[in-house]
Amino acid sequence: MSVGAKPVFVDVDPHSYQIDVSKIKSAITSKTKAIIPVHLYGHPAEMNPILEIARENHLKVIEDNAQGLGAEYLGKKTGSFGDISCLSFFPTKNLGAFGDAGMVVTNDPSLAERMRMLRTWLEEKILFRGSWLQQPTRCFASCDLAGEIPAS
Ligand SMILES: Cc1ncc(COP(=O)(O)O)c(C=O)c1O
Repeated sequence: MSVGAKPVFVDVDPHSYQIDVSKIKSAITSKTKAIIPVHLYGHPAEMNPILEIARENHLKVIEDNAQGLGAEYLGKKTGSFGDISCLSFFPTKNLGAFGDAGMVVTNDPSLAERMRMLRTWLEEKILFRGSWLQQPTRCFASCDLAGEIPAS
């Protein structure tokens, strides 16, 4: 929401408690950028139809895997389907840290680079005369967003 995004909620299936895939399409508008399935209570969301809807509508898929660590969908680990997968390591989560912590994972090298830069307040490391230096670089997010990253 720091970047002006508006979450649009899609109800859950009353039996699985996962996002109701039959209700996703009607929630998509020309402004929609991504689908965020939440693998809730250690159970996987229905990833195949979600990926299909995302592909048809040119949307990214961001998996919320905070409660899904270790879960599988059709033999494949949750968190390995989307463009990005997010994890919370808050002490009450499946894998709790000592205090607030989290992680984002991706297989996309360009997204990984952007996320590493967000982690370090939009700086990137450059090799200068044999030493790694932190250098302010291409600014693609507001300072507000950069400030939120370590807090989330
Ligand atoms: C599924 C899920 N995603 C995200 C979060 C948010 O995690 P955090 O408090 O570390 O930002 C929670 C916290 O309850 C959660 O249960």
